[in-house]
Formats: sequence, structure tokens, C-alpha cells
Amino acid sequence: MSKKGIGIIGTGSIVNTYIKCIEEIDAVELVALFTRSSDRVKKIELEFGIPVYDDLSAFLALPQIDLICVCNESGSHGRAIIQAARSEKHVLCEKPLEVTLQKIDEAIAACKQHKVKLGCVFQNRCGVHFKQVFDAVSKGKLGKLLMGNAHINWYRNTEYYAKNPWRGTLELDGGAAFMNQGIHTIDLLLHLFGPVRSVFGTVRTRVHNIQGEDVGSGILEFANGAIGNITAGTALYPGHPERLEVYGEKGSILMEGGRIVSWNVRDVPEPDFEKGDLDGSGAADPTAISHQNHKKVILDMLDAIREDRLPMVDGPEARRSVEVITALYRSSESQDLVFL
Ligand SMILES: NC(=O)c1ccc[n+]([C@@H]2O[C@H](COP(=O)([O-])OP(=O)(O)OC[C@H]3O[C@@H](n4cnc5c(N)ncnc54)[C@H](O)[C@@H]3O)[C@@H](O)[C@H]2O)c1
Repeated sequence: MSKKGIGIIGTGSIVNTYIKCIEEIDAVELVALFTRSSDRVKKIELEFGIPVYDDLSAFLALPQIDLICVCNESGSHGRAIIQAARSEKHVLCEKPLEVTLQKIDEAIAACKQHKVKLGCVFQNRCGVHFKQVFDAVSKGKLGKLLMGNAHINWYRNTEYYAKNPWRGTLELDGGAAFMNQGIHTIDLLLHLFGPVRSVFGTVRTRVHNIQGEDVGSGILEFANGAIGNITAGTALYPGHPERLEVYGEKGSILMEGGRIVSWNVRDVPEPDFEKGDLDGSGAADPTAISHQNHKKVILDMLDAIREDRLPMVDGPEARRSVEVITALYRSSESQDLVFL
């Protein structure tokens, strides 16, 4: 069977994760990278040891590429997705899918029009502990869901924002603590609790010299009647492992840093985990995140292409967390309850 070819748009820190994954997957090969910074082509070619293009049309025309991984700045994802779709390449995009709903809808429409698959990377859905929580909740083991909380009270230093100036901007990061860091745990919360009916919240920039928020808090009401409390920050020294709390009529489960730290569900014993099942937390350091869950997302995307089915997180599914986060931002501005 011939290998599937992968091309990557973007050459930032997350690309290292993709390279590690692709090296471990027999069925794929990394064909080329694209950067729009012509002056960096040589340097990146030396760094990664694969061809680097600064001409997007030439890159997208490469017949060996079947799947484009979109890894550039979040607010440039939409344009990259649309261009890849027009070249009839399948697309796996980093989170968030884009930073506005309009740009997300345009990207989804382009992929539909050109009949290519669109997947988004929310790799924490693959975490072994989270899968147990999802299984218990989806099988109704917790009974009626009452409350779900997500707390991403992280820390990023000044250098994190200074090094790559797109971070924390409204145009390219779409905000900051919620849209960039918090979105993973918000996605898990929505995956467990379903659609949100209303959002009320406040976000503020208190420490960092950025446009987006470095601290924020919100209250959600879900369509199923449950309520939720979400907080996120990148100014909360030293950065605490993210928390996900699930409360139902028949019990509760608390997760911290991707690990179940409390399981109290009536008549359902706590699952047994092997040591080494855990993925690193990015509470204080974005490079501490393991690549294993990314690898599962890439494998799922390859299966989705081969089996002609939806990927684990498709466009509409990836849109949900951005809808909640942008509603939170609107609520903070207007100080009104925002209905979705
Ligand atoms: N799934 C995850 O856990 C995860 C983790 C990190 C990032 N991401 C996502 O990946 C995307 C890219 O994030 P990142 O952290 O790799 O971004 P980054 O800041 O490292 O790089 C972003 C882009 O900036 C450009 N760039 C980087 N260094 C440059 C330099 N020295 N000179 C000129 N241009 C340069 C590159 O084109 C690159 O594509 C974002 O959408 C982010 O949300 C996801």
C-alpha cells in the first residue's frame, strides 16, 4: 500500500509534534512544509531536513500530498483551509479551527464544496483518563448531569508573548487565555455536557501586554439544564494543572492535568489505570505536552479518509468551543447574558 503524503502549513513550535508523530506512523510520509517567510526557507530546511516551500500554489500542487496539516497562527487557519480545499487536499487543522464563527463557516463550506475531509485537533479527547469519564457520562452512569466546570488557570511568561507576536492578538489569536489555552478543556466540557444555551462572563487583561485576556471567568447554562463555571488565565503564576469537574445525580468525577483525581460514582468502581498512561500538562510550559494524543488524532484522520467517514472532531464539532468562547467575550463587553 502506498504511503499517504502529508504537507504542513506553518513552521512554529507545534510542527515538532507533527514530525515526531509522522516518524512513528508507517503509513505516512512528510512531503514538505510551507512557510510564507521566504527568508526562513533555508534555515527551516536545515532544521527539519525536508523540503520547504514559500510558494503556496507550488506547495499545494504537489501531487504526493494527500493531507494538509494546518499549523500556522490560529487567525490564518481559515485561509489555509480554503486554499487546501480548493487544491482538493484533505485538511487536519490545529485548534482553534479559526477565531471567528464567520471564518469557520467559510472554511467548512469550502471543504464541503470541494468534497474534502476537515478535521480539527483536540487531542485531549484521546486521553485515556478522559475516555473513561466520557464513557461513564455517555452511558448515563452519573445520572442527570448537574454541573460541569473547567478551570485552566495557567501561566505564560512575558517571553511567550514577546517571542511570537501573533500570540494574544485579537486578529491572529482571537483572544488569549480562553481561545488559545482554555479551548481544549472547554471542548472536553462541551463533549460531555452537549450544547450550551447561554453564557455570561468577564474577561480582563491584567498583567501581560496583549490585546486578549489573561484572566477570565464565565457561567454557562447547558441545553440539558446543567450549569457550568469556567475560568482561564495565562497570568496565574505558577500555572496550575487544568481541572475538569463533572457532577451528576449519581456521583462526581474530578480530573486534574488529564488525570482522574477523584471518582465517586454510585455502584461504578474507579477504573484501573496502567502507569505511564498520562500525557504531559502544559500548565506552565507549552512544550511539555506529549505527542502521543496528536498521533491518535492523525491516525483517526487517516482512517476517516480511507473509510470515507467523519473524523473524530469535524468542522461543526470544532465550531462549538469557539462559539462558546466568542459568546463569553461578547458577554464581557456588553455585560449581558448571551444566548447561543
Ligand atoms: N493542539 C495543541 O495542543 C497545540 C499546541 C501548540 C499550538 N497549537 C496551535 O498551533 C498553531 C501554531 O502554534 P505554534 O505554537 O506552533 O505557533 P508559533 O508561534 O511557534 O508559530 C506560529 C507561526 O509563526 C511563524 N513563525 C514562528 N517563528 C517564526 C520566526 N522566528 N520568524 C517568522 N515567523 C515565525 C511560523 O509561520 C509559524 O507557523 C496555533 O493555531 C496554536 O493554537 C496547538
